[in-house]
Amino acid sequence: MSDLKGKRRCRVGIAGFGTVGQAVARILSSGIHPELQLTHVCNRNVARKRVDWVSPDVIWTDSFEDLLDGEVDAVVELIGGISPATEWIESALKAGTAVVTANKQVIARVGGTLANLAATQGRHLLFEAAVAGGIPVVRALREGISSDRLVRIQGILNGTCNYILTQMEQEHVSFSEALSDAQRLGFAEADPTEDVDGLDAQAKLAILISVGLGRRVEVEDIPVSAITPIETVDFAYARRLGCVIRQIAHAELVVDSERTRAFVQPALVPEASSLGRVGGTKNIVVVDGEFGGETAFSGYGAGGEPTAVAVVSDLLAISRGAPLAQIPPEAGRGTDLVLPEFEAPHYLRFMIRDRPGIIATAAEVFSRHGINIDAVLQEPGWSKTELPFVVTLERCGSSVVSAAMDEIRQLDFHVRPPLWLPILSAEEGRG
Ligand SMILES: NC(=O)c1ccc[n+]([C@@H]2O[C@H](COP(=O)([O-])OP(=O)(O)OC[C@H]3O[C@@H](n4cnc5c(N)ncnc54)[C@H](OP(=O)(O)O)[C@@H]3O)[C@@H](O)[C@H]2O)c1
Repeated sequence: MSDLKGKRRCRVGIAGFGTVGQAVARILSSGIHPELQLTHVCNRNVARKRVDWVSPDVIWTDSFEDLLDGEVDAVVELIGGISPATEWIESALKAGTAVVTANKQVIARVGGTLANLAATQGRHLLFEAAVAGGIPVVRALREGISSDRLVRIQGILNGTCNYILTQMEQEHVSFSEALSDAQRLGFAEADPTEDVDGLDAQAKLAILISVGLGRRVEVEDIPVSAITPIETVDFAYARRLGCVIRQIAHAELVVDSERTRAFVQPALVPEASSLGRVGGTKNIVVVDGEFGGETAFSGYGAGGEPTAVAVVSDLLAISRGAPLAQIPPEAGRGTDLVLPEFEAPHYLRFMIRDRPGIIATAAEVFSRHGINIDAVLQEPGWSKTELPFVVTLERCGSSVVSAAMDEIRQLDFHVRPPLWLPILSAEEGRG
C-alpha cells in the first residue's frame, strides 16, 4: 500500500466498468475515503469506457494482467458471469491480491474453493455485494449475530421481481405491463429470465445458506418457480386473505441431518409481515435464531450506487486491516441434500369455463389425497367462459398438493393452467 501522510493507501483496481464498476469509481473518486486509491480500470475495449471524472493518474487497460502487474492491493471483480470472472479472482488471489466481488454466481458455485484459496494465501475475499446489494447482510450474519445458531432464513432477494409484483398489486397492471415498466426504468434486464424465473434469488440463497446456516448446497438443487403465471386477479384474492404476493427465498436447517430445506418461489405472505411490507425494488432478509429470535435486514438490494456502497465498504475493511476470514467451516463439509418438501396452507387459483360440478370434482381429488379444503372464494362480475375462483387448503405437504394438482390439471374445464402458491406466515414453510 502507498503512503498517505504516514498512513498506507490501499491501491484498488476495478475489473468491469459497467453499472456497479462506475458507481464504485464515483465513490472512490469523491475523495471521502482517502485511504482508498483507484489506480486501474480494466474493461474489454476500454477506450470507449474512459471518463474524465476519475483521476488522470488512473491507468485504463484491456488486460486484467495489468492489474496484477500494477501492484494493486485489491482487485474489484465486477464483470459478472462465471468465466473469466472465476479465473480472474483465482489469479488475483494467487498473485497475493485481495479480492472484492459482487458476483453471486461465482460465489454461490465456487465460493468455498475460492475462500480456501484466499485463506491459504492470507488474503481477503469479500463479497458483501453479492447478496442483497446494499444491505450488509453477509457481515451481519458473520459478525453481528454470529453467536446465535440460525435455523431459518427467508428473504426477498430480487428487486426486479419485487418491483413487478408490487406494481401488479398497487397499479392493477398485468405481468407484462409491470415488466415493461421495470425495463423502461432500468430495474429489469432486456432478458429478465434470471430474475423472473428465480435463478438470481437461487444463487443468493445458496450464499446465505453457506454464510448463515453453515451448510453447503449445490445451487441447482434449490427448486425455483417463476413469477410469470401470476395474474392481477391473484392480488385481489390475496388481499381478501390479508396477504400480498412476493417471490420468497426460503432456507431452513433440518437439524441433526445433512439436509437443508430450501426453495425459491412466489408465495402469499401476510400483508403486515416483515416480508409483506417490503415493496418496490427493495430487498429483505429475515433470519430466525435459536436464541435471538427474528431479525430483519432491509434496504436496496440492487442498483449501481447501493451495490457500490457494499463493495467500497469491503475495500475499507481490507484497508483498515480487518482480520482475515478463517476457512469457513462449511467449506470442509460435503454438500447437503436439498429438501424441497415443506408444509403450509395453500392458495390455488383456477381459471375455468364454468359448468356445474367443477368444485365437487376438485374437492373429490383433494379428499382422495387427504387434503382439507379451508375455503372457496369467487369474486363476482367475471365472464362464465373465463371465470377465476380460488380454493385455499389447510396446512399440508407441498408434494401432496403437487400430486393432487397434477390430477386436477388434466381435467377439461381449465382455460389456463391453475396456479398454486403456498401461504407463508411466521410458522409456515417448515417441514
Ligand atoms: N447492477 C446491479 O444492481 C447489481 C447488484 C448486485 C450485484 N451485481 C453484480 O455486479 C456485477 C456487475 O454487474 P453490473 O450490473 O455492473 O454489470 P454490467 O453493467 O453489465 O457491467 C459489466 C462490465 O464488465 C465488462 N465486462 C464483461 N465481461 C468482460 C470481460 N470478459 N472482459 C472485460 N470486461 C468485461 C462489461 O463490458 P461491456 O460494456 O463490453 O459489456 C461491462 O462494462 C455482476 O456480477 C452482478 O451480478 C449487480
